[in-house]
Amino acid sequence: MKALVLSGGSGTRLRPFSYSMPKQLIPIANKPVLEHVLENIRDLGVTEVGIIVGDRAAQISAALGDGSRLGLRLTYIPQEQPLGLAHCVTIAREFLGDDDFVMYLGDNMLPDGVKEIAREFAQNRPAAQIVVHKVADPRAFGVAELDTEGRVERLVEKPEQPISDLALIGVYFFTPAIHEAVGAIAPSARGELEITDAIQWLVASAAEVTASVYDGYWKDTGRADDVLDCNRKLLEGLVHSVRGEVDEDSVLIGPVVVEEGARVTGSRIVGPAVIGAGSLVEYSHIGPNTSIGRNCVLSHTHLDSSIALDGATVTEVRGLHGSLIGRMASIGPADVGTAHHRLVVGDHTRIEVAA
Ligand code: TTP
Repeated sequence: MKALVLSGGSGTRLRPFSYSMPKQLIPIANKPVLEHVLENIRDLGVTEVGIIVGDRAAQISAALGDGSRLGLRLTYIPQEQPLGLAHCVTIAREFLGDDDFVMYLGDNMLPDGVKEIAREFAQNRPAAQIVVHKVADPRAFGVAELDTEGRVERLVEKPEQPISDLALIGVYFFTPAIHEAVGAIAPSARGELEITDAIQWLVASAAEVTASVYDGYWKDTGRADDVLDCNRKLLEGLVHSVRGEVDEDSVLIGPVVVEEGARVTGSRIVGPAVIGAGSLVEYSHIGPNTSIGRNCVLSHTHLDSSIALDGATVTEVRGLHGSLIGRMASIGPADVGTAHHRLVVGDHTRIEVAA
């Protein structure tokens, strides 16, 4: 079996981050989402991986190279425009050949893994096997209606009155039967070739399409709040490890990772929390549920339930919570004697100020 990882797209919901980086490289517990995805694929025993990349291809290949670091062989497949998930299958035709494959959205996190679901697929080899997850409000999702045997009877995009609470999530298993289906469908109203339409085409052609329920934690990391929630979830498994320097005026409570070359001085770090390599934390309260990237500086600051990306600086700001701070961003005090807040804020940035 091969894998096809979708790592193009426009990432509009994750602006302003997606202006300068592909959303699939946003770090969760200090590791890019895409690396979590690829590790999950490797756990299935799959090593041949095609990666669909858009206009941020260079950053993705700089981060992952040929995949050997992860024990994988990566083939980059450029997509000129994000024309839909089924379009990704069509442009990967040569890479996929006549192999079965798992298609995995590069911004979806399923940390509990899909090994059992992959095993079921390999055993039964239906034309397609989708992965579904029970959600509280199915109206925002593609929803699968199943018969009593778990076979898909119908897929409905964002139904107003859903008759099932099983949402399609970002992992699909296909036999080569999908190629005829993606060739047969037309673009949707939003101009994309939809994978749900291709799967629905298989259902309508009486091909076997099954669904497996994934019960574990799932997150589409397409929005900032989802990234933060996912970070909290992944940090739950953090194992305490101090490879940087922590002075005797500092306290570490609970699982805390201090990476190589990081320094913690006069601070209180409440785990789970990660302080990235080369970062400096001084006279600050950090955590819980917080990841600090590489080469950040946090000084006289209180920050919890947050992510700071590489090179961010936060000075003398107490009470930061649930924040996502971009690379090389700088947050600090106003000039002495100034009573104003002063902001230099990029496009589509969101700032919430307590009254
Ligand atoms: P989405 O999150 O559905 O689309 P998007 O990246 O355009 O995001 P937004 O809605 O915020 O603008 O895409 C799911 C995954 O598939 C994501 O990793 C991007 C990838 N993708 C492609 O690689 N090519 C495509 O044509 C599309 C639509 C998505």
